[in-house]
Amino acid sequence: MNAVIEAIRKRRSVRSYESKTIPRDIINMIIEAGNEAPSAMNSQPWRFVVVEDKKIKEKLLGAALPNAKKILEIVKDADPGRYQMIEKLYRELKDPVYYSAPAVIFVIGSGRYADHSCPLACENMMLAAHSLGLGSCWVGFGAMVTEDAEVRGLLELVEDERIFGPILIGYPKGYPERPPKRDPQVKWL
Ligand SMILES: Cc1cc2nc3c(=O)[nH]c(=O)nc-3n(C[C@H](O)[C@H](O)[C@H](O)COP(=O)(O)O)c2cc1C
Repeated sequence: MNAVIEAIRKRRSVRSYESKTIPRDIINMIIEAGNEAPSAMNSQPWRFVVVEDKKIKEKLLGAALPNAKKILEIVKDADPGRYQMIEKLYRELKDPVYYSAPAVIFVIGSGRYADHSCPLACENMMLAAHSLGLGSCWVGFGAMVTEDAEVRGLLELVEDERIFGPILIGYPKGYPERPPKRDPQVKWL
């Protein structure tokens, strides 16, 4: 099968990683793939922060977890099945936000084109990671760190910047099954 189509079909959100460090040149290759993404007016409205440091990852978790738990409570009544599934993860995992991934890549965007363009960089990175034998996951809960002054300082976040992802990268501990996906809804004219 065509290699790109195969990568698109086989990429999965990975939530369990080996602790093995990823060589920096591999991480750079993934970031370069993100940087090649199309962007409105070729604005490339992104920058990347790679977090590998254990202590900083602990700080991130400390900042994100209370917010993630708040969101979980909101889901409780609206979607009890999903609540139970996620609540179980929260009980069982030491790090249910970043899944103890060896590298967390924050895609930080600014300006009018960021909302459309930065997610394309994220997807390029996830596909590149997959093609290099790595797992990845976009963790929206992991972006809920912006109220923490220390984390803002570490990420050097300025006023109009927003976090996309972050994207977790690591060697997967097993590969998850494809979740159910509905068929594309297409209208031909
Ligand atoms: C914007 C966005 C936010 C996401 N946030 C999370 C998250 O916080 N935690 C998580 O485990 N997965 C998160 N995911 C991954 C989705 O749950 C996953 O893409 C979806 O279940 C489909 O599975 P697949 O990626 O293996 O096809 C997020 C994905 C996207 C695109």
